[in-house]
Amino acid sequence: MNTEIKTDFLVIGSGIAGLCFAIKAAEAGSVAVVTKKERLESSTNYAQGGIAAVTGMDDSFDLHIRDTLTSGAGLCKEDVVRFVISEGPARIDELVRWGVEFTRIKDEDSNSRYDLGREGGHSRRRVLHAKDLTGREIERALAEKAGGLENVRIYENHFGIDLILESTVRKKKGLHAAGNRCLGAYVFDAKSGGVITFRAKYVVLATGGAGKVYLVTTNPDIATGDGIAMAYRAGAKIANMEFIQFHPTCLFHPEAKSFLISEAVRGEGGVLRLRGGAEFMDRYHPLKSLAPRDIVAKAIDTELKRTGDEYVLLDITHRSREFLMSRFPNIYDKCLEFGIDMAKDPIPVVPAAHYICGGVLVNEFGETSIPGLFACGEVSCTGLHGANRLASNSLLEAVVFAHRVFLRAAGLVQGTEHVPIGIDPWDPGPARDSDELVVVTNDWDEIRRCMWNYVGIVRSDKRLERARKRIELICEEIHEYYWNYNVNRDLLELRNIATIASLIVRSAILRKESRGLHYNTDYPRADDEHFLRDTVLQKGNTPYSDS
Ligand code: FAD
Ligand code: SIN
Repeated sequence: MNTEIKTDFLVIGSGIAGLCFAIKAAEAGSVAVVTKKERLESSTNYAQGGIAAVTGMDDSFDLHIRDTLTSGAGLCKEDVVRFVISEGPARIDELVRWGVEFTRIKDEDSNSRYDLGREGGHSRRRVLHAKDLTGREIERALAEKAGGLENVRIYENHFGIDLILESTVRKKKGLHAAGNRCLGAYVFDAKSGGVITFRAKYVVLATGGAGKVYLVTTNPDIATGDGIAMAYRAGAKIANMEFIQFHPTCLFHPEAKSFLISEAVRGEGGVLRLRGGAEFMDRYHPLKSLAPRDIVAKAIDTELKRTGDEYVLLDITHRSREFLMSRFPNIYDKCLEFGIDMAKDPIPVVPAAHYICGGVLVNEFGETSIPGLFACGEVSCTGLHGANRLASNSLLEAVVFAHRVFLRAAGLVQGTEHVPIGIDPWDPGPARDSDELVVVTNDWDEIRRCMWNYVGIVRSDKRLERARKRIELICEEIHEYYWNYNVNRDLLELRNIATIASLIVRSAILRKESRGLHYNTDYPRADDEHFLRDTVLQKGNTPYSDS
């Protein structure tokens, strides 16, 4: 079956970045949003702490900028930090106009204002939240708004496989390969099993992060780095993949699959303790349990290795049950499900892979190095986070960049026609249906364990080299397997996760220093002379650095 769908804008992903862009772009043209599961399923939907923005009387853009730059350990792009933070309040007002209800409280004069949360590395309370279900509230409001717009069509269970490039189409037809514009994407329809050609004037990657490349992660199953892998295969520049943020406090319980205990719990006074009850963060940072995330995660990792324990404890038992139930209803209920009463019992926690600071390199309007292709949200590397993201800055980055992509793409779309060239339907080649899915499961498991053991919070040259060899072998095996069998979701995700693992390992090997989220015991200090720059990988090119 050869189906082709034409649209002005193709958006891949329906989290905060994809939906914010889609809602705006509907003013300028037709929008197709493809999303690989149901529309709500995204990292956005699980965000707890909230969205950082300057709204408090005691806060200022300069303070938020300073905190972001400090966290980023020298690699933030200062102009990007400035515009993201100063454009934040306007984007928050827009979310509220679209129906997002952030938690409000009454001040001493009975005026209603946002209840602002505090998280690690922030010098002020500035995190807007909807109790501890901020992401769910944002995703609900955006999906409702986008779903009601005539110009927006959302395709659920549609999986972006690969981007379509003008040069590839021309080459196949034996034509001169002029230009390298992105013309759309091949998309797998999981229900019918067919592959659809989506042809678009502009493509926006909003596929989120890649936490599933690690064995232990806070991320939902959709986070397999598909957008970064697709962009890399298409020849886009990919930056700073070595900077993986590990969240210090993921619930430790044999039956709890990746449940986060928000940093906001420490923001409200939660204290980290060893199993015996002793505090330990005072030995690592003056801000103790509320130190920046990289420091807390590394401290916990060190203590777990030193003591041989499987977890540490997060203790907020000094706060009242009423407060905990009202401020953290989701965490409170989830803990109770596992027999933990957080008003009486400290919560067992471990660090887990949480956020990827690197991604598809974009400019200040979300343009990638491929004409016609934009990226926003966690899939992109904008320069905001540098070597370590400040908590709750990612939802902020997503809304600001979705708006900026809209400004640029909507301006361009009026004068743009579809490139007048026929696109061949997806070519499955000699593929047949797989009867050995055990290969997929096995490779998935091996990649995630290898990344966890060798490319985790603490790295060394020896471990990275070991990981490189293994991942390379698996990539070869997948290449062989992938081309011999018909596509399905598991196989597509496996191919992407292997590419992501390889990009992370190669980037980590190139950075011979320790900075922010990248800690290598063979180079325990930052080396500003040689490494105050991005690590950039591009298919077919030798790695280089952008200063
Ligand atoms: P996502 O929200 O992940 O959306 C990606 C979308 O792309 C999904 O719809 C997915 O199905 C789709 N997709 C992926 N691949 C494909 C494909 N091949 N084809 C089609 N569709 C595809 N950040 C904060 O700022 N504050 C917080 O409090 C916070 N808490 C968090 C808590 C948790 C548990 C997690 C996991 C993350 C948290 N983060 C937080 C990070 C933040 O949630 C994410 O960075 C942000 O939501 C990413 O938004 P996004 O739109 O880029 O991607
Ligand atoms: C959290 O609630 O701890 C997550 C915040 C974030 O990742 O920004």
